[in-house]
Amino acid sequence: MPPRRSGWAAGRPVEWGHVVDRGHRFSAARAAPFGGRSVVNGASPFAAWIAGDPELARLLDEEMERQSTTLQLIASENFTSPAVLAASGSVLTNKYAEGYPHRRYYGGNRVIDEVEDLARARARSLFGAEHANVQPHAGANANLAVYTALLQPGDTILAMRLDHGGHLTHGSPASITSKIWRFVSYGVTPAASDPSDAGEVIDFDQVADLAKREQPKLIVAGSTAYARTIDPVPFREIADAVGAWFMFDMAHPAGLVAGGAHPSPVGVADVVTLTTHKTLRGPRGGAILCRSDLAKAIDQAVFPALQGGPLEHAVAAKAVAFAEAQAPAFRAYAARVVENAKALGAALSAQGFRLVSGGTDNHMVLVDLRPFDAELTGKEAQEVLDRAGITCNRNTIPDDPRSPFVTSGLRLGSAAETTAGMGSEEMVQIAGLIGRTLRGRADEAQVAAVRAEVRELCAAFPPYPDLVSEGTG
Ligand SMILES: Cc1ncc(COP(=O)(O)O)c(C=O)c1O
Repeated sequence: MPPRRSGWAAGRPVEWGHVVDRGHRFSAARAAPFGGRSVVNGASPFAAWIAGDPELARLLDEEMERQSTTLQLIASENFTSPAVLAASGSVLTNKYAEGYPHRRYYGGNRVIDEVEDLARARARSLFGAEHANVQPHAGANANLAVYTALLQPGDTILAMRLDHGGHLTHGSPASITSKIWRFVSYGVTPAASDPSDAGEVIDFDQVADLAKREQPKLIVAGSTAYARTIDPVPFREIADAVGAWFMFDMAHPAGLVAGGAHPSPVGVADVVTLTTHKTLRGPRGGAILCRSDLAKAIDQAVFPALQGGPLEHAVAAKAVAFAEAQAPAFRAYAARVVENAKALGAALSAQGFRLVSGGTDNHMVLVDLRPFDAELTGKEAQEVLDRAGITCNRNTIPDDPRSPFVTSGLRLGSAAETTAGMGSEEMVQIAGLIGRTLRGRADEAQVAAVRAEVRELCAAFPPYPDLVSEGTG
């Protein structure tokens, strides 16, 4: 069994390393997080925190156990620090604060103003932005606010095709965005027949041609399933050539940008949106960064155009996450996230999977299952991996012949298990477990054997060792 390590250690809330030797105190926390007992008999912290509601406490207990005993490989997820959890669960949830610091519609906001000022200042400092709005409840709200601020209904937006990695808010027929604005989509280049060639990368010729022909008012860069670095500069040049605004949606790589592992779009794009809960490792939520001259329009679009009272407990938790991401250890974390994704990708290739675009530059690996097994769909792979304790999601791959509900691909991410302390050795082990599960998917004994190994691996890397110490049982 590998040494026990974890990313979160008691009493060092901001600047500590991504890998901490936990010593012997928290042994096998993932294998039996609450000493094998249920929360209702008092074995987990939830029993004390949510006394009087054993039904809900049990559910929290079960989710903690799930997160602690299975592998979290969903590219948009992470384990926040206990400090982020504490701020998210604080009394700030009680306060109404419609408006912005020092311009509120309710009384009693002296402290809240300081909290939001702190979050805004930390976001500006972390990303080098002139203005930050930290109120968007989610990444989708942040995108909608930018469109609302910069555009008129019916204006054209050029964004990435959904089946090539664009997000729902980049013009899905199912999203309100496509009912208000007219979307035109660019995609990636065809898959290269020569594996050393860089196929399936953003087709900038297509972006430029479409921009010239369609004269969009806004060009959007950013993706939900693209494993390569997105260079903001060519987008800026194309936007300038046609007089369009340029928005960079860095929902996924925000933490890599903060940690210097991905080029920053701040100062290149007119507006940058982000989520705080993916690689940035903060609470669920969104934020918007922009130049000072756009601050008023952006702020008015968030409130009062789209949202009511801000979630100030989430704003406080964002402030915690921004500070954590500015600490030197976060740079090491971001670099290690990329290193781990590369190691996972290489090991999956060795198992016979094809990596879309031939590899990864970020926290994400997009896998084409067809060369591994032509019959295997993303849906079936996701389901059997779930039974083996390996949590990931099916995903379309560029020009996928299967529907988005079935798919030929899987999307995997390294951000969460890197937080838990895993390294490239564990990534190779995980690739092997994925290969074995999918090869032996018809044999439940084989799946159960992998499940047992996953438990053992997770036991060595508890995400919240301080919340599930042996002493609690
Ligand atoms: C590129 C991109 N933009 C926006 C979002 C929306 O974020 P949220 O789910 O917080 O609304 C996501 C979420 O996955 C995303 O990947």
